[in-house]
Amino acid sequence: MKIVEEILELKARRNALLLAHNYTRPEVQDIADFVGDSLELSRKAAECHAPVIVFCGVRFMAETAKLLSPTSIVLHPNPKAGCPMAEMASPEEIRAYRASHPGTQVVAYVNTTAATKTEVDICCTSGNAEKLVASLPQNRPLLFLPDANLGANIAGKLGRKIELWPGCCPTHNKILPEHIKEARMRHPNAVVLVHPECLPAVVALADHALSTGGMLRFVHDSPQKEFIIGTECGILHRMRKENPEKAFHPLDPAVVCPNMKRITLEDVLNSLRDMRPTVELDDEVLRRARAPIDKMLEV
Ligand code: 13P
Ligand code: SF4
Repeated sequence: MKIVEEILELKARRNALLLAHNYTRPEVQDIADFVGDSLELSRKAAECHAPVIVFCGVRFMAETAKLLSPTSIVLHPNPKAGCPMAEMASPEEIRAYRASHPGTQVVAYVNTTAATKTEVDICCTSGNAEKLVASLPQNRPLLFLPDANLGANIAGKLGRKIELWPGCCPTHNKILPEHIKEARMRHPNAVVLVHPECLPAVVALADHALSTGGMLRFVHDSPQKEFIIGTECGILHRMRKENPEKAFHPLDPAVVCPNMKRITLEDVLNSLRDMRPTVELDDEVLRRARAPIDKMLEV
């Protein structure tokens, strides 16, 4: 395909690293240097030392890449690709919460804006949230934001009281317990995997709740041959490509994140040609928002 050749040629000329999230369009995943979950992509950005990073995913992920690799030019090929959940907790709201709840430890899911990260103590992703919350002192109140489902799922797993912010992922919130019951009737031998952004009632009916990277590792390592997948459908591309002998059934094919689909091959080509749009963060945000991410990567 001509456009793919053009992208690869420009990518080589710019010495760019192309990172893509597991939910992006299949054709974008296929030209990426690395495809992964939020935690894996953060780690890649932190260690890559690439002069140019083309980040195919939603805006907060591209911002995280910039925080972790501030000297790189970070291209986010479609600025309209935002995560609605990341807009559900603002820096002002967190400051107000802290003022009325002194002593609270504030844990932010990485699905927050860089500006919001400047006001929190530590970040986490779905891949490390449980381990990270477990590492925090028990004798101080703990607020988890912005995803109330993820927070409630961790609280249930750890048996720990956690204050929950009233945010959620509009895509994962569409998954309901009846979807799992129906899918199990259709595929009685399949293992059910869901994302921890799903409602606690959904997680309770699944076999495992895992990050997107965790799901990919699980299906690869499992001796089972059939899986029901309760997350954004873009992940099925890698699952099927990497495990051609196994069967994957989406819990509901309508579970699609429209923002993750916004970045097209044309956008990638245009961004590499014009070297825009870039992710720009001011120095104070760069410094203050990086601290909770660095803490996360240390745990
Ligand atoms: P992962 O970190 O599991 O890839 O999840 C990111 C996300 O946005 C899920 O909706
Ligand atoms: Fe945000 Fe949900 Fe899309 Fe993930 S799937 S990027 S949490 S809207």
